[in-house]
Amino acid sequence: MSFTAPIQLPGLTLDPLWYRRAVFYEVMVRSFVDSNGDGAGDLQGLVSRLDYLQWLGIDALWLPPFFNSPLRDGGYDVSDFYSILPEFGTIDEFKDLVTKAHERNMRVIIDLPLNHTSDAHEWFQASRSDPDGPFGDFYVWNDTDEKWPDIRIIFTDTEDSNWAFDSERRQFYFHRFFSHQPDLNFENPAVHEAVFEVIRYWLDMGVDGFRLDAIPYLYESDEGNGEGEPPTHEFIKTLRRMVDRDYPGRVMIAEANQWPREVAAFFGTDEEPECHMAFDFPVMPRIFYSLRSQQADELVNVLSETTDIPDGAGWGVFLRNHDELTLEMVSEEYRQAMYGWYAYDPRMRANIGIRRRLAPLLDNSRAELELAHALLFSLPGSPFLYYGDEIGMGDNIWLPDRDSSRTPMQWTPDRNAGFSSADPGKLFLPVVQSLVYHFNQVNVESQLAQSRSLLHWVRNVIHTRKAHPAFGLGDLTVLSVDNPSVLAFVRHYEGSDNPMGDSREDVLCVFSFAHNPVSATIEIPEYAGLNTYDLFGGAQFPGIGDDGRLTLTLGTQSFFWLHIAPAR
Ligand code: GLC
Ligand code: CA
Repeated sequence: MSFTAPIQLPGLTLDPLWYRRAVFYEVMVRSFVDSNGDGAGDLQGLVSRLDYLQWLGIDALWLPPFFNSPLRDGGYDVSDFYSILPEFGTIDEFKDLVTKAHERNMRVIIDLPLNHTSDAHEWFQASRSDPDGPFGDFYVWNDTDEKWPDIRIIFTDTEDSNWAFDSERRQFYFHRFFSHQPDLNFENPAVHEAVFEVIRYWLDMGVDGFRLDAIPYLYESDEGNGEGEPPTHEFIKTLRRMVDRDYPGRVMIAEANQWPREVAAFFGTDEEPECHMAFDFPVMPRIFYSLRSQQADELVNVLSETTDIPDGAGWGVFLRNHDELTLEMVSEEYRQAMYGWYAYDPRMRANIGIRRRLAPLLDNSRAELELAHALLFSLPGSPFLYYGDEIGMGDNIWLPDRDSSRTPMQWTPDRNAGFSSADPGKLFLPVVQSLVYHFNQVNVESQLAQSRSLLHWVRNVIHTRKAHPAFGLGDLTVLSVDNPSVLAFVRHYEGSDNPMGDSREDVLCVFSFAHNPVSATIEIPEYAGLNTYDLFGGAQFPGIGDDGRLTLTLGTQSFFWLHIAPAR
């Protein structure tokens, strides 16, 4: 099959399934390191911290858009796909980033918002002023704003319609997101050509793949709700064929915030694949739900659902990202529970979600942070970390919209947290200075100096995960447990590249969501009579009885990763 085609990229080890083993790291260029003291992060700054990311164990970077943009939606409002925002750097500096990342065996994934552009894009300006010209049909125009009333509004905080009136063309244009982000018209073949050209431009520059931003929304129809419509899937299939043919080894990652079955549809089928990866939007909110409800059942249900995905496809598991923690895909009852637990201050909400970072969400509880990360690193799929969460960075809910969790990375206790040498008043966003998360305490330098810090803990778990292919490549069996607060599953993998020396690896993962210590008996008949060993330290744990049962005691909100094997 095409995804197993040999890959020849300069400086990268050959592994056609690299994305299934990789640990990804989302880094907003603007927020990471400012190399020239103008108050905003840039590409050169990012290059200067690649060593840190390599030390952490990161295999692939995901960069949200860094193209020219008025920055009214964090760069997701692109005004030119072929150039880089000057404050971030130049095309040559981007090439340098790709080269230096590849030298470290690290991949670079870029973000492509194809559904829409900024209203400042010259395609839109031409479309407004010259309806009969070459760009006249590039956007979705209509004489009234009453078409497609069933299409939901996503940015409910700012928009009350998906249509906006353009005073120049004297028509309405359709927008799924902000009104300054007109949707491209995918009914128009010229739009396909334009978009393919953009994609090829960046793939030719050596990027290892792209995140398909807002991908369900490409097409609208009278019958559907404008999410994952059949021609949208056709478009993705065509794109995948082009990538497999001309750029084997590069990956397409779907951002589809949909119900489980609909998300899985973005993988396509064995015969007609679509994306290599899709973010696991169904699992994410259920992790947070379990932490507070102290019940494992929601995760058990979502993991037991047999969503068959094509060979070679993989989930992207995440806890947080640059957007609000979305609650669109949970029931109203659960949504209200989540708001009560995690967004008790209305200021913490945005649209249909919660605009907070991981550590504040979990009230800076080390036990919960470890438990959440243990899930992130052992659930089926590849983990995506969000910059700063490895040190438990805080947020700033007094900033507007999703800027709350896009503040500068905290490197040191020095001025501007070591992010920038600029006058502090000049920073694009202020550094977090709240009581608990002040950069004086929460920063990379001080966590490097403490062997028991969250940063060292996260790094250790990343390296442990990477040493065991069962996590990236193995299958999953959910086990039955007599304690409703406990989730248990086995990750199993057979292959020749096993560091344990065996061709087979079985890892039992057990998580307790209870807010007090518990005991649990796990049914694991397939492994009756075998021993278990802690994956981190190697210590022997209770053996699995001949009756196929294993009883464990777990501390408050804790987990075990146990290697299952015969006596050593
Ligand atoms: C995606 C991005 C989000 C952006 C939206 C519109 O959902 O993750 O940040 O606002 O697309 O482009
Ligand atoms: Ca700068």
